[in-house]
Amino acid sequence: MNTAEYSSELATKYSCFRKDFNETDNDLFNVVALIAIKDRDILDLGCGDGRYAMHLKELGARSVEGIDISEKMIEIAFQNKEKTSGVDFHVADGRKLPFKDHTFDIIFSNFVIHYFENTSEVFKEIGRVLRPGGYFIGTFNVTDVSPGFERLYNTNMPIRLGKGDSSIVVQNLIKSRDEISRALSENNLMILSEKEIEHPNAVIDPSFKDYLRVKKHVMCVLIQKQ
Ligand SMILES: C[S@@+](CC[C@H](N)C(=O)[O-])C[C@H]1O[C@@H](n2cnc3c(N)ncnc32)[C@H](O)[C@@H]1O
Repeated sequence: MNTAEYSSELATKYSCFRKDFNETDNDLFNVVALIAIKDRDILDLGCGDGRYAMHLKELGARSVEGIDISEKMIEIAFQNKEKTSGVDFHVADGRKLPFKDHTFDIIFSNFVIHYFENTSEVFKEIGRVLRPGGYFIGTFNVTDVSPGFERLYNTNMPIRLGKGDSSIVVQNLIKSRDEISRALSENNLMILSEKEIEHPNAVIDPSFKDYLRVKKHVMCVLIQKQ
């Protein structure tokens, strides 16, 4: 797992850059609108600088907990939170969530699932802390790999966010659609809706030597715990 990539410096740059990096927000919040989030308890898994956690609270959630493995991200999230009540942040690893079983009605997670080497492990944790019938709403990258290059699954792939001098590169793992589907069915999680969405601001950096062998897609999903 490559979370070391979010060094303190990268976390700061990511957060500054984040406001211009919102192409997926409409699709994501169209999915949120399908679910009644008023008075629900929500976890923002891999919350980064906390912008979505705060927004979900404004939309009427009862409580929102944000977790992220990066201490710097959580420090920034606390700065952003200021006096917003009903939102809290924790440094934690998505593979071992610091919450009891069945704590949340909804888990929200934007661009995080592709950081976990073992997809089933993180979906098992998601399933554990969700209440029965609870939802996972999120986006993540899946990558088509040319036949013969399957060894690339779960290797690091540099994604360039933004364009020009201010752009930054973050690593993420190459995930197959099959791996995601298997992890979901192993953990009694069912996709209710999925949509492939455009994200022209996040492209595979051509420095990746297998650039021409892979194609990244962004999925926006609504998943329910059975
Ligand atoms: C692309 S950023 C997305 C941040 C935020 N969701 C957003 O959309 O602004 C990915 C985030 O996942 C976090 N992350 C990566 N691996 C993690 C793990 N094992 N547990 C918790 N957070 C993790 C990173 O530190 C980073 O903040």
